[in-house]
Order: sequence, then C-alpha cells, then structure tokens
Amino acid sequence: MSRKKLPIDIGAQTQAIHGGETPDQQTGASAPNIVMSSTFAVDKTVSFSATNFDEDTPYMYTRWANPTVTQLESKLTILEESQACVAFSSGMAASTAVLLSFLSHGDHLIISSTNYAGTAELARKTLPRMGIEVTPVDTSNPEAVEMAIKKQTKMIWIETPSNPLINITDIAKIAKTAHDNNALLAVDSTFATPIATKPLQLGADLVIHSLTKYIGGHGDAMGGAVMANSEHINLLRNEGVIHHGSSMSPFNAWQ
Ligand SMILES: Cc1ncc(COP(=O)(O)O)c(C=O)c1O
Repeated sequence: MSRKKLPIDIGAQTQAIHGGETPDQQTGASAPNIVMSSTFAVDKTVSFSATNFDEDTPYMYTRWANPTVTQLESKLTILEESQACVAFSSGMAASTAVLLSFLSHGDHLIISSTNYAGTAELARKTLPRMGIEVTPVDTSNPEAVEMAIKKQTKMIWIETPSNPLINITDIAKIAKTAHDNNALLAVDSTFATPIATKPLQLGADLVIHSLTKYIGGHGDAMGGAVMANSEHINLLRNEGVIHHGSSMSPFNAWQ
C-alpha cells in the first residue's frame, strides 16, 4: 500500500487538505475517491492471519485495510507527525482498542479523573472486571500522578483538554513520569486536534482522536484514530481492527 507523504515543511492547512492523498492511478482523479468494496481480487497468495499483515500486504478485505481508509490514515499520520496511524469505527472503538491491547490482568492504569464519560466508564467499570486496576487521578497535578505510580503501572491515560471541564495536563511532564516507570503515555487529544497540540512531539506514546468531533468537522461521520510508532499501530490493527472488528467505513473515511 503506497502512502506518499507531502514534505513535512508544507503548512498545516495544505497538509490537512492534500496530505496522504494521491491521484487515482487509473483515472487520474485528484480528489480522494471512495472504494466501498469489501473484498479485493489479489494476484498473490495472502494469509488470513492478522499476525501476517504488514505494509506490503495487498488490499484483500476491508476489515484489514481499505484504500480510502488508508488515505485518511496517511493524512492523520502527517498531521500528527507520527510514524503510523490506524482508523476505527468511532473514538470509543479507538480508546477500547488501546486499553484492551496494551493492558492485561494484573496491570495498573492511571487515568485522568475528568474524562469523556464513555472512556471513564469503560476504565472504571469494565477494566477492573478484567483484573486491571484503575486509579483516577487529577493529572493536571504532576505530583499526584507520581504519587499514584505502582510497580504494576503499565499505562497513564490523559485527556487534555478534558471533556467536559477543559482541564489541562502537562504532556511532557507526564511522559517523563511514565517513561521513568516503564509505562506508556496515551493521550486523548480529541479537543486539541493536531492544529493545537502534537502529543507525540512532547513524548507521548499513543495519541487517540474521536474523529467524530473537530477532525471530522461536519458532524456527519463517526470515526476514531490512533497515531503512534509502527510497532504499536500494527498491534492495534491486529487486535482492535482485525480481531475486534471495529474497522472504519470507507464512506466515513472519505467524509
Ligand atoms: C474527548 C473524547 N474522546 C472520545 C470520545 C468518543 O468518541 P466517539 O463518540 O467518536 O466514539 C468523545 C466523544 O464525545 C470525546 O469527547
């Protein structure tokens, strides 16, 4: 799957419009096209195991990958200055994939005490049922985060600015605390968008967006995305998208 990128020094407005888009190879159409096909004719043998999926796997089934969704993922990769991106059917699907793919029974999660309600309820109700300990903390206070760290802390999840209270967390400070303690920092950056904040540049490991909000911009499509290094994105695509099945509709990606 070719993902041509615009040079990174092109302005954010141009990147937001043209980033990740390439003219259609057959027709030359310069605006993004929609490929709604669920299946693709492939001329080489491909594995149906998610663990064999990589950048060179041809499109074969839209739950794995789809050209229109890839265009959106390439655009978001450029806008967040990340290595890779994977899109989901909703912001909650993206958050669920991160929490369930990186945390296991016995792990400890620190999470901002003010959060979008869906994320807060998922973390406080569902994760403990699976043996994952969860500590809500006012992450706008870095000392409180340090105090909450345990040997088993595997991830710190912050939402900044938070929904609905607009609490602000210092991403770089919390990234240092996370990394000093061998934990990952995940940032729900939905309210900021990459126009205001690029958490990966401040040390975060994973950036989560509800694309349904400002990135979608028109209120007509549900979507979610995670930006991170390729290793983390491959894991999320294998588990969250291919196994859990929360792939984004190409129509929503196009919108
Ligand atoms: C900050 C934030 N994160 C995640 C979500 C969940 O996104 P979605 O509604 O696309 O599932 C929302 C939705 O309101 C949100 O405001």
